[in-house]
Amino acid sequence: MKLAIDQARLTSEIEHLATFSDAEAPAVTRVVFTPTDLKARAWIKERCQDAGLTIREDPVGNTFARWSGDPSQSQRTRLNGPPESNDLVVGTGSHIDAIPNAGKYDGVVGVLGGLEAIRALQASGFRPKHSIELLIFTSEEPTRFGIGCLGSRLLSGTLSAEAAGKLLDSAGITLEDARVRAGMKGSLEQVRLPSGYYKAFVELHIEQGPLLEREGLSLGVVERIAAPASLRLTFEGAGGHAGGVLMPDRRDALCAAAELILALESTAKTTGSINTVATVGICDVFPGAVNSIPAKVSLSVDVRDTNLERRDSVLKTLEETCRAVEVQRRVAIRSELLNADAPAESATDVVSALRQACEKHSLRYLSMTSRAYHDSLFISRIAPMAMLFIPCRHGYSHRPDEYAAPEDIARGALVLAETLAALAS
Ligand code: GLV
Ligand code: MN
Ligand code: MN
Repeated sequence: MKLAIDQARLTSEIEHLATFSDAEAPAVTRVVFTPTDLKARAWIKERCQDAGLTIREDPVGNTFARWSGDPSQSQRTRLNGPPESNDLVVGTGSHIDAIPNAGKYDGVVGVLGGLEAIRALQASGFRPKHSIELLIFTSEEPTRFGIGCLGSRLLSGTLSAEAAGKLLDSAGITLEDARVRAGMKGSLEQVRLPSGYYKAFVELHIEQGPLLEREGLSLGVVERIAAPASLRLTFEGAGGHAGGVLMPDRRDALCAAAELILALESTAKTTGSINTVATVGICDVFPGAVNSIPAKVSLSVDVRDTNLERRDSVLKTLEETCRAVEVQRRVAIRSELLNADAPAESATDVVSALRQACEKHSLRYLSMTSRAYHDSLFISRIAPMAMLFIPCRHGYSHRPDEYAAPEDIARGALVLAETLAALAS
């Protein structure tokens, strides 16, 4: 089997997909179920159909593009044993939604790189015994509905159809309404995959961190994915005139929130592990006037770790700090846990297949941890999973200057193709 990745085609497809954007280039903004997202989906589905893949779209818009396996391949190779089932699917894929002001590679490399890997396998004459499926997940990013990985949470049964349907965007539109308006058919109950659907799942992704670049390596085999938890904190103090209210009398909600942000940073820095990270990415201030004391503040909190106990100990300290700040600053703090997921370990067999694929092409790799979350975190609950990382310049991601070199992307697609072939044989 001679595998050749068409680097020029892959690069031009990544560039083309970036033109489906609600932000001016080089930034990409593509939020789930917006007209832009739907146009991008339609364009990708056409590319998959051109490659002879059969498309299935589930009720939340997860899109499966299948290259059907040939069961006779198993009978030919296993003349003396029972024919192996051809039902198990070898999956790959990622997402194409992009947070506001993002770049063009996050998720996209795993989708278009996955498609290119399949095309390379087809061109090589390889015929899979197990079906190989490219999966484009719906809404890996939490931008619109507040929690990430909606598609994979539903596929894996981590999120119930009932709870998912009720999720609201900032305009008060439910996920249920948004997906129906976007043309998705059926009921959210039908999204969950039957157990044992996948033989294995592999996601190709940019690293979104600096380690591969620092090591001068172009591939990373991911052995674990950190666990994210996110919360919304609401602070209620007392507003008033910025000139009139004396300092000792104030109950400033933003000052209370500021204390909490700094305390959280300090907690995350002192767990003793580099794998603990905490971020406050949204701070809404009410009424938001230059001469008005903040009466109400809402913060988003994102805490992650590869170790569940350590991650949860940060959440516990956060809760204790809330109670202390309430007393000191005479404000009310309400915290709402949006999600608290468990970390995932990659499956040994899939990791081995990735390592062997690297070795077959004499490519060095780094064994690594993903501190970003991915749909693969949730797929790991129902399938043997591993991920393959490629470097991105300076580790930049979620910003317009995110960049991955075409040669690195092509190398990733090559190793992915080799791995899919091994898993689907
Ligand atoms: C995914 O984009 C994440 O926030 O890790
Ligand atoms: Mn992202
Ligand atoms: Mn991503």
